[in-house]
Amino acid sequence: MTTRRTLPPEASVAEGGEGAKLHAPSAARNAGPITEALCRIAPATGTALELASGTGQHVVALARALPGLDWQPSEIDPLRRASIDAHAAEAGLANLRAATELDATAPGWSARHGGRDLIVLVNLLHLITTPEARILIGEAAQALAPCGRLVLYGPFLRDGQPISEGDARFHASLRSQDP
Ligand SMILES: C[S@@+](CC[C@H](N)C(=O)[O-])C[C@H]1O[C@@H](n2cnc3c(N)ncnc32)[C@H](O)[C@@H]1O
Repeated sequence: MTTRRTLPPEASVAEGGEGAKLHAPSAARNAGPITEALCRIAPATGTALELASGTGQHVVALARALPGLDWQPSEIDPLRRASIDAHAAEAGLANLRAATELDATAPGWSARHGGRDLIVLVNLLHLITTPEARILIGEAAQALAPCGRLVLYGPFLRDGQPISEGDARFHASLRSQDP
């Protein structure tokens, strides 16, 4: 049983598209830079797990750019899993698996997803509680193969401070909805 978190609407914008495909404007904007960064730091071969894959836009770009990795997308939300599979079907990539259900904040998931050479998480840590984040990172550590890498992308405070006015507004908005 999963405990799906209700995210503030502006924190997880995904618009309906063709069929089951959802489209997140933010994913369209940051897929390029994230893919470029991962091409520099990801292992060339092995197995990769993406947590909280959202619409599937990122994992399609990553699987295309890093063909030596076998990519497993995952999501807690069934509508988003359907979107991931729809984007994947359109892309037709042999190294991209069907989306699997995974609550990244639930203790124990690493037992089912072990031996990963790469784990990627984009834009979830800022939306969950500190205890949930600790579980997520602890499970990811358990799921990594020796020398495997966990890559986190998202807005981070530096010395407790946001680094842009946009991040400051977003932070205040998230806090106002759930302190
Ligand atoms: C802000 S969106 C980011 C989606 C995608 N990574 C991106 O950057 O476009 C957060 C995603 O986390 C998913 N999510 C929320 N709680 C989750 C959990 N406990 N485990 C896994 N995914 C979760 C939501 O369904 C949503 O797709």
